[in-house]
Amino acid sequence: MATVFAVGVGPGDPELLTRKAERVLRQADVILAPVSNPSDASVALDTVREFLNAERQEIIIHQFPMTSDKTRLIPAWQEAADLIAGRVAAGKDVAFITIGDPLLYSTFIYLLRIFRASYPQIAIEIVPGISSINTAAAVAGVPLAEADERIAIIPATAGMEAVIDALARYETVVLLKVKPVFRDILEVLGQMGRERSAVFVERVGSARQKVLTDLDDMAAHTPDYLSLMIIRRN
Ligand SMILES: C[S@@+](CC[C@H](N)C(=O)[O-])C[C@H]1O[C@@H](n2cnc3c(N)ncnc32)[C@H](O)[C@@H]1O
Repeated sequence: MATVFAVGVGPGDPELLTRKAERVLRQADVILAPVSNPSDASVALDTVREFLNAERQEIIIHQFPMTSDKTRLIPAWQEAADLIAGRVAAGKDVAFITIGDPLLYSTFIYLLRIFRASYPQIAIEIVPGISSINTAAAVAGVPLAEADERIAIIPATAGMEAVIDALARYETVVLLKVKPVFRDILEVLGQMGRERSAVFVERVGSARQKVLTDLDDMAAHTPDYLSLMIIRRN
């Protein structure tokens, strides 16, 4: 039976793709890569291109608007689900590729919900990927948690109250989606006396990777969307 595979391709380094992901991608008939802007390159697709065969496989780049406006998002998810379901009905295996892991803040989670509701007969297999968090911790040499420590993962766009609360309660706080509120985060770190406890990691696993540990260096930098921070209790 044709299957939909959600394939986590890791943070952007082809060497950080699992062997299972590589096998599934080589075998799939259709590869669907999400982009938020039609003019943007798909990081996920660039990561796996060397494993694909453009002559045999259909490669679809599908736009998912980067917005919280459900009136724009829901049609885009439904359209992608319908498109995938059409290929599956024709007997084709479809691989939906996603950066990092497909079940960690990924567009695939919305699609999964639509599939379960609208196409419960379609088999779905999820191939986990190495998340940007694991990779950032590795390149920065920062432990994420040890012994009985606890870790919080917060999209910084949830607001500074959530960030402050997590910093007060958890030994490790990972902030994703830092770009739109970067200045506010740096201010909070200064106010809480946490200047020395943060690591900023951008485009981890790519040629544009950047790791900053000094708050002044962070303040002088304009972050990319693909950037995160790990903040450890001193
Ligand atoms: C929608 S979430 C996707 C997370 C992804 N599914 C994962 O497992 O890593 C996007 C956020 O993940 C982080 N991120 C993803 N890829 C990254 C990379 N290569 N370097 C640094 N941060 C990254 C950034 O914080 C970005 O705003």
